[in-house]
Amino acid sequence: MILDETYTLANGVAIPRLGLGTWQISDASVAEAVRAAVRIGYRGIDSAQAYGNERGLGEGVRTSGVPREQLFVTTKLAAEIKDRAGAAAAIEGSLATLDIGYVDLMLIHGPQPWDDFRGGDYSDGNRQAWAALEDAYEAGRIRAIGVSNFLPADIENILSGARVAPQVNQVLAHPGNTPSELIEYCRARGIQVEAYSPIAHGEMLSNGEVTAMAGRYGVTVPQLCIRYTLQLGTVSLPKTANPAHMLSNSQVDFVISDDDMSTLRALRADRYSEDNDLFSHHSA
Ligand SMILES: NC(=O)c1ccc[n+]([C@@H]2O[C@H](COP(=O)([O-])OP(=O)(O)OC[C@H]3O[C@@H](n4cnc5c(N)ncnc54)[C@H](OP(=O)(O)O)[C@@H]3O)[C@@H](O)[C@H]2O)c1
Repeated sequence: MILDETYTLANGVAIPRLGLGTWQISDASVAEAVRAAVRIGYRGIDSAQAYGNERGLGEGVRTSGVPREQLFVTTKLAAEIKDRAGAAAAIEGSLATLDIGYVDLMLIHGPQPWDDFRGGDYSDGNRQAWAALEDAYEAGRIRAIGVSNFLPADIENILSGARVAPQVNQVLAHPGNTPSELIEYCRARGIQVEAYSPIAHGEMLSNGEVTAMAGRYGVTVPQLCIRYTLQLGTVSLPKTANPAHMLSNSQVDFVISDDDMSTLRALRADRYSEDNDLFSHHSA
């Protein structure tokens, strides 16, 4: 049962293989979504400062009926914060807003601010943000630290001055957009990859090839996409606030054949990732 399965991070911390994405779930409705997910058996929940829902998410965790230590909460340091003092303050802000004692995993949300994504050189700023995460990690406020949307050069920059190596890189991965080289780069360095937008933000629901393959397996498109990312060895983070979808998204105990994995890996359907308008607005 996937909901009970974990990977082990480089520092020995267990991370659920399947987690609930919460981007675009409002602060007012996320507590109920978290409680519903936890009732179904989800233990991982993914948030970010940019989602504006840390308060409600913390409320959901506190009222879930499950002991805090059985849940794994991720949040992300806003991509715009590239100085050590600002990052330290923002980390304290997340801890206070969540109000759940500690954070399980905190990531630098992006190597550049969203309005300059894949733009200028923020190497010094990223090392500063990283130092603030290391401070919180060493103080025991955060159990694991990592990055998101980082390419190998961004990771090398962090490693060049790091006391603690990143334990996670959360990246866009779905059938149609599989960053195989990046996944392999991370795997070789003991960095656990997480797949965000495993359903391509919903785009896969209307993809003909993926729909046909899902039909052959007798599963839904989201189930095929989630299973695909799990078989890549990544954590899968589908978003939904709908309990029926949460349940079916967790029913992925089938196996995609090697041939079909190759087909999905080779598929090119990256309209979502290339939609710069969406990217610049999404603050995800
Ligand atoms: N680090 C980053 O920069 C970054 C960027 C993007 C996303 N993320 C993380 O990854 C999470 C997931 O990504 P995402 O929100 O972009 O998209 P996603 O999970 O790929 O797709 C979400 C869409 O799929 C629909 N859906 C989910 N399960 C379904 C089901 N069983 N049947 C039918 N429709 C279903 C959802 O609608 P319903 O809500 O109606 O079910 C929603 O429209 C985010 O919430 C966030 O936590 C991180």
